[in-house]
Amino acid sequence: MTDMETMPRTAPKRVFIKTYGCQMNVYDSDRMADALAPHGYVPTQDAAEADLVLLNTCHIREKASEKVFSELGRLKEIQGERRAMGADMMIGVAGCVAQAEGEEIARRAPVVDLVFGPQAYHRLPDMLEKARGQRHMHPSLKKAVIDTDFPEEDKFAHLPAAKKDVTLARGLTAFLTVQEGCDKFCSFCVVPYTRGAEVSRPVAQVLDEARRLVDAGVKEITLLGQNVNAYHGLDAAGRPVGLGQLAFLLAEIAGLERLRYTTSHPRDMDDALIAAHRDLPLLMPYLHLPVQSGSDRILKAMNRKHTAAEYLALIDKIKKARPDMALSGDFIVGFPGETDQDFEDTLTIIRETGYASAYSFKYSTRPGTPGANLGDQIAEAVKTERLHRLQDLVNQQTADFHASCVGRTLPVLIERVGRQPGQVGGRSPYLQAVHLDGSPDLIGAIHEVEIIGTSTNSLVGRLQQAVAA
Ligand code: 5AD
Ligand code: SF4
Repeated sequence: MTDMETMPRTAPKRVFIKTYGCQMNVYDSDRMADALAPHGYVPTQDAAEADLVLLNTCHIREKASEKVFSELGRLKEIQGERRAMGADMMIGVAGCVAQAEGEEIARRAPVVDLVFGPQAYHRLPDMLEKARGQRHMHPSLKKAVIDTDFPEEDKFAHLPAAKKDVTLARGLTAFLTVQEGCDKFCSFCVVPYTRGAEVSRPVAQVLDEARRLVDAGVKEITLLGQNVNAYHGLDAAGRPVGLGQLAFLLAEIAGLERLRYTTSHPRDMDDALIAAHRDLPLLMPYLHLPVQSGSDRILKAMNRKHTAAEYLALIDKIKKARPDMALSGDFIVGFPGETDQDFEDTLTIIRETGYASAYSFKYSTRPGTPGANLGDQIAEAVKTERLHRLQDLVNQQTADFHASCVGRTLPVLIERVGRQPGQVGGRSPYLQAVHLDGSPDLIGAIHEVEIIGTSTNSLVGRLQQAVAA
């Protein structure tokens, strides 16, 4: 083979994708990279060398949205530097801010060439082509290419799959979006507006993608959806299949060792899913099940459609099926009208549930949601104080949970070399980071590890030597 044959015909173009927000955006960013790969784009981690920058944005809270505009300011400078060197840079805004604000983004930040929502990723190469045409226009005539439709077609069916080596380079654990959108309309949340109505991918499509991931070497899959346990994809006979049944089907894939899913709504935790936790060892005993508040009054105002007692009863039922289930949650403090007593009720439900970890947020008014029109907004200082108290409690629970693992032997999926030489790192079934001394040969498999200590955010382990019979 000559050198000519091994050389790419054209220099690769570089794309820098910056991801904000949830795991669904992480998944989508990889899909965008996959859609661009056949068009000669290779990923870079450095915006300064990028021919194309895509910001995959999050709109869930005001702060998350505002980050996009400060990043666009920074990119404008980098673009200027590149142009001074005779290169160029196209800039696209994707994700939920793009979906929610569309043209407004291009108006506020003329540096943006394209704006496209989460349902348009498969059309990215076409959009780029159009945006390139606009580049030759006089600045006064230049218009950003905008695509924020919710098309009828199935974007997943049009997205190319990553090559095996690319998949494995992304890690031994992979995300797989099975469901998008939400019909719950919690009164604080923009998701039903930005991501639209609930749509589930067909069972065969999910199984195919899972098989492809496992075939590339992936050991653990996390099924994703804004409301993942509302999954109701159709099987070959056109019958809806729930998440519990889907877990049973995925469990049949040889080589798939661990399965997780996120994010769930308590109302959709049905018996089939709880049975899957009871019967499937590969379904990890770690459940992200947000309750948001422990006050029935606030839960009602949030339109969560369940009470605190119902949530606690559900946790009991789940723990009966899988006694070592560890829980994670989301909490909002300072929802309009939240009194000191309401907040105390939230602390109470946290104490009663006992969380291995939790995410907590100050209520952020989102235009267009019912919560935005409620009176009795809570002062920022009160929100801050409540957030700190809640986080102190949750941090204590996390530390207690980590400490309770010391002395236990846990199966750890070893995923990478550690930060210290001679160390490797991985995850416990409860999603805790575990570090231990060991050779890189351990990477890629689940090993029994004795937990011998804790550090701030992780566990310290010791490899269990196999004992001869
Ligand atoms: N303000 C604060 N937190 C919010 N979340 C969603 N919308 C808002 C909002 N307007 C939180 C919820 C949700 C998580 C993903 O983000 O806790 O579960
Ligand atoms: Fe938002 Fe509620 Fe839907 Fe979760 S369930 S995405 S919080 S509306």
